Amino acid sequence: MELVRGIKDMQRLADEARRAGNTVGCVPTMGFLHEGHLSLMRYARERCDLLVISIYVNPTQFGPGEDLEAYPRDLESDMAKAKEVGVDVVFAPGDEEMYPRGYQTFVTVEKVTGHLCGLSRPGHFRGVTTVVAKLFCAIKPHLAVFGEKDFQQLAVIKRMVKDLNMDVEVVGRPIVREHDGLAMSSRNTYLTSDERGSALSLSRSLEVAREMAARGTGDASEIIGKVSAHISSQPHTGIDYVKIVNIDTMEDIANIERRALLALAVRVGKARLIDNAVLEVHK
Ligand code: PAJ
Repeated sequence: MELVRGIKDMQRLADEARRAGNTVGCVPTMGFLHEGHLSLMRYARERCDLLVISIYVNPTQFGPGEDLEAYPRDLESDMAKAKEVGVDVVFAPGDEEMYPRGYQTFVTVEKVTGHLCGLSRPGHFRGVTTVVAKLFCAIKPHLAVFGEKDFQQLAVIKRMVKDLNMDVEVVGRPIVREHDGLAMSSRNTYLTSDERGSALSLSRSLEVAREMAARGTGDASEIIGKVSAHISSQPHTGIDYVKIVNIDTMEDIANIERRALLALAVRVGKARLIDNAVLEVHK
């Protein structure tokens, strides 16, 4: 396994692989790897010849006052985990490599970013699409794998790839959870043990909602009310949003016809956690 810091070096490796007729797969991450990240890598490992992961805490997707400085980092441990799942290249550029002096180009996806996290975190998706576009230019992947944990991010990236005719297959993979249901996240390290208990209300309320939908409840406000009450009943929680939206556009839905996305963002102590579930109404 190779550690690559420079964009030119990364491009050279990608070109060599492509010239040899090999497929390149990539899994972009911000590091502090957990099973959620590793599940994406295992999937990609099966589907490509050269597996590249990126580890880069991207400053342009963090807003003022967010956790850019506090974001957990541990390259050494990440490298060991990546090696274990069979990663070939860890691409870990520095800020001066990604955003050198004079940098001024950004990629903006419009409508689908105007909901959910796009409202609570202005500029966030502009940073995500910009860095992902740049990572694609460096890694030149045939395949890129993302998690459904960040469901809106996945929708935004799919939109960007389609709109800009990027020659990359984007695949979304299911959320990996702890045994008790908490969605894995690098930000879970911010939780105290009390807060971690409260954080379980996210996944538990998703379960409640799934059952309501399965029993035929399609009324979004009824489901949102139940979910919000469940989360608010726990100490240390502050709801950012609880929304039921169209799976592709992220627009609010009042009545679920068949399928919809229930998306949550909740502050628990210092952490802002997100989780989601696709609800299927059986009428
Ligand atoms: P990061 O939060 O490190 O996540 C990297 C990838 O892992 C994303 O595609 C995310 O959806 C996926 N992931 C995180 N937790 C997961 C879980 N519990 N189950 C399944 N997949 C999970 O998302 C980012 O980084 C950044 O925004 C990035 C795309 C790298 C751009 O900077």
